[in-house]
Amino acid sequence: MKDQELKQRHTQAGLTGDTDPEIVETKAARPSARGGSGNWLAWWAIVVRITITMLGLSVCMSYLITETAFWGHSSKWTNWRNYIPRQKRVFTLHELSMHDGSNPGLPLLLAIEGDVYDVSSGWGFYGPGSSYSLFAGRDASRAFGTNCLSRKDHLTHDTRGLSEKELAGIKGWHQYFDNHQQYVKLGVVELNPVDPAAPIPPPCEDAKPRPK
Ligand code: HEM
Repeated sequence: MKDQELKQRHTQAGLTGDTDPEIVETKAARPSARGGSGNWLAWWAIVVRITITMLGLSVCMSYLITETAFWGHSSKWTNWRNYIPRQKRVFTLHELSMHDGSNPGLPLLLAIEGDVYDVSSGWGFYGPGSSYSLFAGRDASRAFGTNCLSRKDHLTHDTRGLSEKELAGIKGWHQYFDNHQQYVKLGVVELNPVDPAAPIPPPCEDAKPRPK
């Protein structure tokens, strides 16, 4: 009775230990769970393990030698925040304006060409009272192109009338924020369409090009 029960449990657990040649033969003919795709999985596991080990070693060596994790290279790909899956948000202008640093509990955001970036780690640049606080909580693409930090009418996404060089300047800043090691793109802002009848902001008298 006990033997019977034990056999039944072994069978349920897959521990049959069959000696019957017919059963053994059938099992040998059956594709093993470890054969076929099982082998591939084992190989993949080895490849993944080796890759992770190599990466880990590289990060350690890099940190010892350059004090950076990726041999001095920094871009959005070395920014772990970019690997957090998040849904891209669509901000209204009002929502964006609330992130200008006046409420320290909210992340500090700025927008350029409609893309919204979390620049909280640059609080010293964009926080209230700092040199570039005028860029926070808004899309001031024009000022990025004209280097005009003194005129309010340049704090706009309206880029009408700008030269090729100025437009390239905006693109350069856009790339800067996009590739930044700490800033993160959160989504886009719904910009008001530019009224073609509105006057184009006059050029800035005291534009200060950013030193190279
Ligand atoms: C006399 C002219 C200027 C000087 C001496 C100056 C100097 C600096 C310095 C020393 C930094 C910090 C170092 C760095 O991360 O590169 C900086 C950052 C910055 N500058 Fe200027 N700047 C000038 C003009 C401008 C202008 C006209 C703009 C606007 C288009 C501008 C936009 C910025 C921004 C956005 C940052 C912060 C970058 C970040 O978030 O990492 N600067 N500037």
